[in-house]
Amino acid sequence: MSKTYNIALIKGDGIGPEIIDEAVKVLDAVSSSEDFDFTYDEVLMGGIAYDMTGDPLPDETIKSARSSDAVLFGAIGGEKWDNLPREKRPESGLLRFRKELGVYSNLRPAIVYDELINASSLKAEVVKGVDLMVVRELIGGLYFGEPKGRDENKGYNTMVYTKPEIERIAHSAFEIAMQRDKRVCSVDKANVLDVSQFWREVVIEISEQYPEVELTHMYVDNCAMQLIRDPKQFDVILTGNIFGDILSDEASMLSGSIGLLPSASVGSKIGVYEPIHGSAPDIAGQGIANPIATISSAAMMLRYALNENNAADKIDAAIKKTLSEGYRTKDLAAYDAKEICSTSEIGSIIANYAAKCKL
Ligand code: IPM
Ligand code: MG
Repeated sequence: MSKTYNIALIKGDGIGPEIIDEAVKVLDAVSSSEDFDFTYDEVLMGGIAYDMTGDPLPDETIKSARSSDAVLFGAIGGEKWDNLPREKRPESGLLRFRKELGVYSNLRPAIVYDELINASSLKAEVVKGVDLMVVRELIGGLYFGEPKGRDENKGYNTMVYTKPEIERIAHSAFEIAMQRDKRVCSVDKANVLDVSQFWREVVIEISEQYPEVELTHMYVDNCAMQLIRDPKQFDVILTGNIFGDILSDEASMLSGSIGLLPSASVGSKIGVYEPIHGSAPDIAGQGIANPIATISSAAMMLRYALNENNAADKIDAAIKKTLSEGYRTKDLAAYDAKEICSTSEIGSIIANYAAKCKL
């Protein structure tokens, strides 16, 4: 009997709806050649949720996510909502959502497609073959620590990590490393911060359970430099919330386009799969957004949440074929393009290849 997976769909703001539509197109196409199908429950988050309900994260959205097999997420935010009080802003909805679902481990791969090697602002020989994974702690650290607040004279946040928080994210990174090149680089600021010193001690303790994995440590400022100098030295980068936010944006640029890279937020029963880019309101509605990061996130969802590795491989292969044949959205027009495609055209090409792909 064929399986049906329930996916909570959060399209969000800006280009969110356009790119999610393409990911759904590809998921439906690939499922037609597999033994499963999907039902989707579309729910609100972000600016659109605020406009329609007064809350950037309505309860119904959390409920739908909790009763789904996985969440596929577009993007949220935009200038329109920038002046709202903090708790009404789209970003607050997203942070609360991550916390409510307990997705403490944020996986952000940075891979460089050979077909787009010239899209990187770094030299081809520096980035060719880059394949690293940032494992970012997502629901603790500076983003959530207490006390925090502001008055007329000061603003403050607290960077705090408890032992269990560090242990579980360290396990997550070591387990991922076991499926990759078995190297973890833990990134901190242990020369200055007590929280980082503690982080380092706990990571070392956990590493003893993974004798096959090589553990190294790096200060975050050095890591920012090394990512540009020699990114191929990294396999898995394990780090906290704020450092991971910054380093994963930096790592994404190795590939040349922020429109290519997916992410997964996992750790509890339900995972959230989303492109790493934002809602790009300046190009919304024009049919020029690159849906590949979202389609690739859908592939991660198949792999990590649904255990449908074959279907995930088909989507990854279809993306590669599409790029190697020279189909490009406008953001990548300057890099060996044979044909410039709209958002929906490139989605259809990938869907078609994914459906026909024989692995
Ligand atoms: C990200 C984003 C978010 C974050 C914002 C939108 C709250 O930058 O997912 O990296 O800082 O975590
Ligand atoms: Mg970020």
